[in-house]
Order: sequence, then structure tokens, then C-alpha cells
Amino acid sequence: MPILGYGTLKLGSQKETQKAVEEALEVGYRLFDTAQSYLNEEGVGYALKATGVKREELFITAKLFAANYKKVGDTKKTYKESCKKLGIEYADLFLIHQPIGDVYQAYREMQELYKDKEVRAIGVSNFYPARFMDLYLNFEIKPAVNQIECHPIFQQEKVLELAKSLNVQLEAHSPLYQTRDNILKNSVLSNIAKKHKKNGGTGDFKMAHTKRHSSHTKDFKKRKNDRKSKHF
Ligand SMILES: NC(=O)c1ccc[n+]([C@@H]2O[C@H](COP(=O)([O-])OP(=O)(O)OC[C@H]3O[C@@H](n4cnc5c(N)ncnc54)[C@H](OP(=O)(O)O)[C@@H]3O)[C@@H](O)[C@H]2O)c1
Repeated sequence: MPILGYGTLKLGSQKETQKAVEEALEVGYRLFDTAQSYLNEEGVGYALKATGVKREELFITAKLFAANYKKVGDTKKTYKESCKKLGIEYADLFLIHQPIGDVYQAYREMQELYKDKEVRAIGVSNFYPARFMDLYLNFEIKPAVNQIECHPIFQQEKVLELAKSLNVQLEAHSPLYQTRDNILKNSVLSNIAKKHKKNGGTGDFKMAHTKRHSSHTKDFKKRKNDRKSKHF
């Protein structure tokens, strides 16, 4: 799983999403974090279909939206619909987006998808320790990833500690705190960035990755000529 990925939340219309993902591919991103609730899987799919990058070099995450698993069979059905929109035969990672609704039935079907080799890995998002442990202890195939909000202002030490002890990959979403509270001008981050001759956002990444999170942002827009390797 690449350590730094490209998030596809709020990229605009399907065409705008396509353009953004094409540019992200061009600057070197290979992990794309998608979700049914972002309503732009088709746009991501147009870019993935058009790219010359080989499928095995890409890491595509899909996320299951709570409204899409109301009854038995829904999870498998909606997963296949997402793959179709994304133009892929399988997702590298399929996550329950939030601990809402009948997550047991949803995860049961995800486990079957995994056993049938229709998805490479399964996991959850926004599951805090109690909900996470409940799922972890009650299923044979353990969640490979827990994707949660995590950044210097909200470091999630307990969730990270738990994930490490269970050999589960913690993945940070909104790693730049959505630039709230002027985070990119935070003096600690600015000093880390200065030390590495990068900007405030990169200071944040450096801190996150020192803690071995995987994370994603849509930050390339501000530094189109940058390459992900230059972050570190
Ligand atoms: N699982 C979940 O529930 C969940 C929830 C939220 C997000 N996510 C995922 O995480 C991804 C990233 O999260 P996010 O977009 O919410 O928040 P974020 O990455 O923390 O922040 C994005 C904001 O930071 C700005 N930015 C990025 N790099 C910058 C830099 N170097 N200098 C200045 N500004 C910079 C972006 O500007 P521009 O707009 O100009 O690029 C954008 O406004 C999403 O796309 C999505 O895939 C998942």
C-alpha cells in the first residue's frame, strides 16, 4: 500500500474529477481513495481507463456508503457497481465508510468477496477502538486497515497503538486537518518543514509518516510540478 495517496473527496463534476485524477497520475500518485458517497466514481473511472499506468501499479480504495447496505446482498451488489463505475475488475481495498447500520452483515459479505478473491483487502473507516475490536474479534478475516481522521492536532495515539498491536494499518484521512485553524502556518510544523526545506503541508506529512500512517490528500494542485518522492 503506497504511503501517500490522492483523496477524491469534493473534486467537482465527473469531468473535473477526471482531470484532477489524470493530473495526480501524472505527478506520480498511485493510491486513489474513492467512496460511493463522493458521487464521482465515474470521473475517477474515466481517468483510470485513459491512463497508461498498469493496473497492478495502482492501489484503488473503494468505500461502502451506509445507505447502500439495507438488506442481505446489498454490499456485494454495490461493490460490483462501484468497480464498474471505477472501470476496475477489483478494488485493492474495500472499506465500511462509517460504523453505521448493520455493519455485521456488510462485513460478512465483504469477507465473502475477499474469500472469493473479488477484492484484495477489506477494512473499515472511522471505527474507534470499541467498534473496531467488536468487528475484529468476531470475524475470521480481520480488517486490514482502519482509515480515520488523523493529523498533528488530533494524533489518535490510542487508535494508533491498538492498530499497531493488532498489525492493522492505520490510514490517516484529512491529514492536513482540511487546513483548519491555520494549521499550515503552525510553528512546530513550519520548523519541521523548514528543516527539510519544504512547505507547512509537507511538515505535516513528515510528522504523520514518521508515525507510519498511510495518508492521502488532494494537495498536488498547489504544487503541480512536485513529485511525491520530494515530500520526504
Ligand atoms: N473516510 C472518511 O470518512 C474520510 C473523511 C474525509 C476525507 N477522507 C479522504 O481523505 C482525503 C483528504 O482529506 P480532505 O481533503 O478532507 O482534507 P485534507 O487533505 O486534510 O485537506 C485538504 C485541503 O488542504 C489543502 N492543501 C493540501 N496541501 C496543501 C499545501 N501543501 N499547501 C496549502 N494547502 C494545501 C487543499 O487545498 P486544495 O483544495 O487547493 O487542493 C485542501 O483545501 C479526501 O479526499 C478523502 O479521500 C476520508
